[in-house]
Amino acid sequence: MPDTLTIIDNRTGQQYEVPIAHATYPEYGSYIRAADLKKVKSSPTDFGLLSYDPAFMNTASCRSSVTFIDGDRGILRYRGYPIEELAAKSNFLEVAYLLLWGELPTQTQLDEWTHWVKMHTMVHENIKKFIDGFHHDAHPMGMLVSAMAALSTFYPESKNVLDPAVRKQQIYRLIAKIPTVSAYAYRHSQGLPYVYPDNDLNYVGNFLNMMFKMTEVKYTPDPVLERALNVLFILHADHEQNCSANAMRSVGSSQADPYVSLASAASALYGPLHGGANEMVLRMLRQIGSKDKVADYMKRVKAGEFKLMGFGHRVYKNYDPRAKILKEMAMQVFEVTGKNPLLDMALELERIALEDDYFVSRKLYPNVDFYSGLIYQAMKFPVDMFPVLFAIPRTAGWLAQWQELLEDGEQKIARPRQIYTGEDTRSYVAMQKRAEAATRTEATPALM
Ligand code: ACO
Repeated sequence: MPDTLTIIDNRTGQQYEVPIAHATYPEYGSYIRAADLKKVKSSPTDFGLLSYDPAFMNTASCRSSVTFIDGDRGILRYRGYPIEELAAKSNFLEVAYLLLWGELPTQTQLDEWTHWVKMHTMVHENIKKFIDGFHHDAHPMGMLVSAMAALSTFYPESKNVLDPAVRKQQIYRLIAKIPTVSAYAYRHSQGLPYVYPDNDLNYVGNFLNMMFKMTEVKYTPDPVLERALNVLFILHADHEQNCSANAMRSVGSSQADPYVSLASAASALYGPLHGGANEMVLRMLRQIGSKDKVADYMKRVKAGEFKLMGFGHRVYKNYDPRAKILKEMAMQVFEVTGKNPLLDMALELERIALEDDYFVSRKLYPNVDFYSGLIYQAMKFPVDMFPVLFAIPRTAGWLAQWQELLEDGEQKIARPRQIYTGEDTRSYVAMQKRAEAATRTEATPALM
């Protein structure tokens, strides 16, 4: 049987044969090239058939070997390794290496990678002055996005994105510096002095140090909390072609440097429908107030008044595998920190949702954001910092996607097509005539 698709254009009676290609394994999907539709024309001057796919519901924008998701079966793998195994056995820097370079590192490779990341943990002193310029109650995500873009000005050579050695240098810098900039944003919002990196600590321990060190000479992270944050970072490190990865690729496709590209990816992450959702989950739980009010709140969700934050996913139509890991981990964290008082409400919300036909029929399950916020809060991270805690590990994924894009000979500057729905051609109308026309037709309020 040929691997082709036959298209018959009923307007012309013409028949076209389009090749069907496959992903690595047949069950990972088959596809046609949208450009093959261009030859389907109603007349020789016709542009050719376009596929219309708002929000990329069924359009692949790239071929990628970084992350695999099977949303129906609740599967997530980085470079083929199941997320559950990585969360149980690995640590964030090792996973970042895996995402970026395709294989788990040998001990020598890991030592070298860790060394180079540690060599770049400090940021230029001017970044502190830059952050000082923000208002005391500036959202840390706004500060992070701006400071990451500002880093571009310190490393003008980073524009040379087609040079693999230059790219590698920026990857070290970005992975190393984003925890420092994030912690500075937090310290600024608290009116606390900035804490310099402590390279005796590991990646996650050092981040906790820069966040929470007070007057002690040396900060010692709690091992359970350090491990929990390591797991959270692993779970958030990549998620294939989501909104922010798409922003990273789209901006990166213009060969913008990785600092400004990453700032746009982080901006995409900030939205409440994406990485801002963990913050919204906490705000929602606080708004509900108590366990006995959960059922009532759910009625309002079902009536379409608002969405249940931390539920639903564009790809997962099953329990998000990351949420499963986090639910278990939350209990371990609460043994150290004491139970988060919002937990009972969250469990009640989940219980009702998993039994309710509205959620079951729409395949709405808890996503990664549902439990991560409860854990972050128990670890004393303020709610505003939640999207920042997402952006730090996701930097590894964004950079892996960016690198793959630049090495992909098929990629060009991202430039979607549109279906034009506006006016047909018309002639310029002189101001005098426009006024006359306006008295005849009702002017729109926005123009008055
Ligand atoms: N609460 C209530 N109803 C929901 C929810 C929700 N959280 N999510 C989807 N629905 C409903 C929609 O209203 C729609 O119902 P309808 O068919 O009656 O109109 C149906 O389920 C399908 O939803 P869509 O909006 O079409 O799904 P989409 O794939 O576009 O959206 C999204 C996915 C944005 C994540 C959505 O589920 C949502 O807004 N969830 C809440 C925000 C959230 O938790 N975001 C984090 C996502 S994970 C991440 O980015 C890390």
